[in-house]
Amino acid sequence: MADNAKLQVAGKDVEFPVRSGTIGPDVVDIRKLYAQTGAFTYDPGFTSTASCDSALTYIDGDEGVLLHRGYPIGQLAEESSFMEVAYLLLNGELPSGEELGNFTTTISRHTMLHEQLATFYRGFRRDAHPMAIMCGVVGALSAFYHDSTDITDPTQRTIASHRLIAKMPTIAAMAYKYSVGQPFQYPDNSLSYTGNFLKMTFGVPAEPYEVNPVVEKALDRIFILHADHEQNASTSTVRLAGSSGANPFACMAAGIACLWGPAHGGANEAALNMLREIGTPERIPEYIARAKNKDDPFRLMGFGHRVYKNYDPRATVMQKTVREVFESLGVNDPVFETALRLEELALSDDYFIEKKLFPNVDFYSGVILSAIGFPTTMFTALFALARTVGWVAQWNEMISDPEQKIGRPRQLYTGPAQRDYVPVGQR
Ligand code: SDX
Repeated sequence: MADNAKLQVAGKDVEFPVRSGTIGPDVVDIRKLYAQTGAFTYDPGFTSTASCDSALTYIDGDEGVLLHRGYPIGQLAEESSFMEVAYLLLNGELPSGEELGNFTTTISRHTMLHEQLATFYRGFRRDAHPMAIMCGVVGALSAFYHDSTDITDPTQRTIASHRLIAKMPTIAAMAYKYSVGQPFQYPDNSLSYTGNFLKMTFGVPAEPYEVNPVVEKALDRIFILHADHEQNASTSTVRLAGSSGANPFACMAAGIACLWGPAHGGANEAALNMLREIGTPERIPEYIARAKNKDDPFRLMGFGHRVYKNYDPRATVMQKTVREVFESLGVNDPVFETALRLEELALSDDYFIEKKLFPNVDFYSGVILSAIGFPTTMFTALFALARTVGWVAQWNEMISDPEQKIGRPRQLYTGPAQRDYVPVGQR
């Protein structure tokens, strides 16, 4: 245990306990700061703030390390499956063969959506962004699955967790089908979790659909890479919504809304649009110059990270997967070469070196998803599909924490001091 942290505020000396985790930075427990000093801490982007204890995911941004329940992301991406990683995040240990089989079967039994929700889709315009549909439909689940919204009941929490993980592929696939005017495809539980999603997305009733094992494996790996990532913006949104006692479906809808932002999960769509706009490697210097220009709001999408000040380990796996998928499918999209060249030029530029800006998980993911056949508007919906596992695991961890209380930050007030109302005739 480290020594207490000593602080002097307004002439008053106070001490706060310092707590150590298993690995990673210690924390200064300042929960009594306001009571003892009348002052708040100030950390708008939470750059130096730990919001909770968690045993799910560990990130070392300087070393580019990402562990899920202690297992390195590179090993999980190579050796595991998305269903197995989901079990690991939810339960804390890798499952036995029998445990994994039972879990996968349980999830498969929740893949269908209440038939009336198909009508809900028909209220959207056909050109609605899939993330707009995901926000709406996931939030609406609490109206159809009211029997698993009592968060004080562990059984209902488990059922709601399984329903969310199982139904996200169905919801995402239906959003895609609706956007292209094709009929919704029902789940096929004889397929894997990811194979079922591919068939619901790209299968049509007019002919049989064969899951391509290379695509299935690549997409399952992409889901693993997106499963969880510590207390990122959307996960923190889910936790904050959950801290008020909101039902799990409403919490996940809040997470989807937050993930949609281009600074977060929306970056995969923005990164591919940027790469396509750049077009050829010859135009890369122009965009790097824009990214460095303080007066230009343009940023290299898929680059930089709040935590990683080294290469995002997920981007390493993603780039390797692009090569495998392209070789296997005989794809030759020049956008990959543009991405590789952009990475090379940016990582040799002092601006990116000094600011420690590296490719993140979103830089290459769009290249693969596009090669598989997804439109760019579906990229963030796929991110949400995979991150639902992390959101659900983090939500369960929070709800079952006996110290859990509603999240309610304070502020530094900069508005007018008290003043008296002036009737309109005297203004
Ligand atoms: C995800 O948190 C997570 O874990 C998220 C995530 C997950 O799995 O949940 O990993 C998923 O959201 C990945 C990030 C996807 N977003 C993008 O790729 C969008 C582009 N990147 C940036 O907007 C930015 O890097 C952030 C939002 C990711 C991080 O922003 P920070 O931590 O607030 O850092 P910052 O904006 O303060 O940037 C530090 C400096 C700034 O320059 P100065 O003001 O100090 O001079 O670096 C510059 C920024 O202008 N900078 C960039 C840049 N990213 C940061 N300059 C050019 N291009 C970029 N991409």
